[in-house]
Amino acid sequence: MKEKVEVENLHKGMFVSELDRPWLDSPFLFQGFLIDTENQITELQQVCQYVYIDTEKGDAASDKPTSTTEPATENTSKQQSDMPLQRSYLSSFEEEIKPASLLRDEANDYMHQLFDDVRAGQSIEGSKARKVVSGMVASIMRNPDALVLLNNLRDNSDYAVAHSLNVCTLTLAFGRYLGLPEDELVEIGMGALLHDIGELRVPKEVMYKQGLLSREENQLMRSHTSHGADILQHSEGIPKTSIEIARTHHERSNGQGYPEGLHEKEIAYYARIVGIVDVYDSVTTTQNYRDSITSTEALKNMYNWRNELFDAELVEQFIQCLGIYPVGSIVELENGEVGIVIAVELDKRLQPKLMLVRDQLKKPYMPPRIINLALHQGDNASKHYEINKVLEPGDYGIDIKSYLLREMPHELSLAQH
Ligand SMILES: [Fe+2]
Ligand SMILES: [Fe+2]
Repeated sequence: MKEKVEVENLHKGMFVSELDRPWLDSPFLFQGFLIDTENQITELQQVCQYVYIDTEKGDAASDKPTSTTEPATENTSKQQSDMPLQRSYLSSFEEEIKPASLLRDEANDYMHQLFDDVRAGQSIEGSKARKVVSGMVASIMRNPDALVLLNNLRDNSDYAVAHSLNVCTLTLAFGRYLGLPEDELVEIGMGALLHDIGELRVPKEVMYKQGLLSREENQLMRSHTSHGADILQHSEGIPKTSIEIARTHHERSNGQGYPEGLHEKEIAYYARIVGIVDVYDSVTTTQNYRDSITSTEALKNMYNWRNELFDAELVEQFIQCLGIYPVGSIVELENGEVGIVIAVELDKRLQPKLMLVRDQLKKPYMPPRIINLALHQGDNASKHYEINKVLEPGDYGIDIKSYLLREMPHELSLAQH
């Protein structure tokens, strides 16, 4: 049965089947969902006046709200709806891309050096890691899109370094979205940057072996979590949070993770965040022995696994944070032009800001052009400026780096239209 409900009267346990506006104009990625968090209610109240609920799939308006008296534990106390979701930016993408790329280079050099030091048996200086991550936090706070976009520059021959930087960046962007304070972002970011440091103690033949691992090899591979915690524990200035992340980022909600088989409530909130980001980056980034998948496919899979493997609420928030066309996606417009998504506003999720890099005949634009699809909505040519499809990362040989790091941001701002 369909029932119309004013947004003030929504409660957990209702199944929202229709909004008072098209789904695609809303921040909700999934069309039809059960309300199980206060965040969802807040978001619906921001976007809609009323919605329709399906009383066969959930509560009716006359039903009592589903009980929410779940005991708060130390780990769950932070996943609350009272933290504001962070959306407003202090600087534009064009302003932030240059400082962000300098920070990415600095962090890249730092990690190469750090890996050499750890391989040589040295401990880590926490103060240096803190400095690198603090710079990244500052950039993410000003505008997360710039640093996140740089994750897509496949510029690093060392997969492990690139993966560490990517996981750190996305963790910070996600943490910002969740409203975590800056000092906590620094500590969780340090954990994300160093989460796989223990891999340096696992033989390379095992770490990068193609095909199935034997039982012993699997044990060795899994030991990177405890090795990582050990390395960090014997280093100076590494916060407990970061050590915990290295130790538990492969634990899974259903207790099937490692090293200890912890269940969801036993896994620290920060480690659950990094666990989600880690899986996302691993499956969307090409490693030498397997092909990557697009972010949309990755998010769909993670959504399907949200209850077994992850904190379901966090997975939903991660999907909301990245959006339908995550920054860095390559898309083709109806008119044939091809562009890289450089910014997304949550209430205009189908009309992101693009850097157009190929014309209608797929010839390179030099310099690239910036276009905000939202500004073309409703004009005569709007049909041509709709996104037709998401392309695979390697299509048309587009090298995002060559576009981004060329005379930025001056040339780009000149080319705006
Ligand atoms: Fe790992
Ligand atoms: Fe990892």
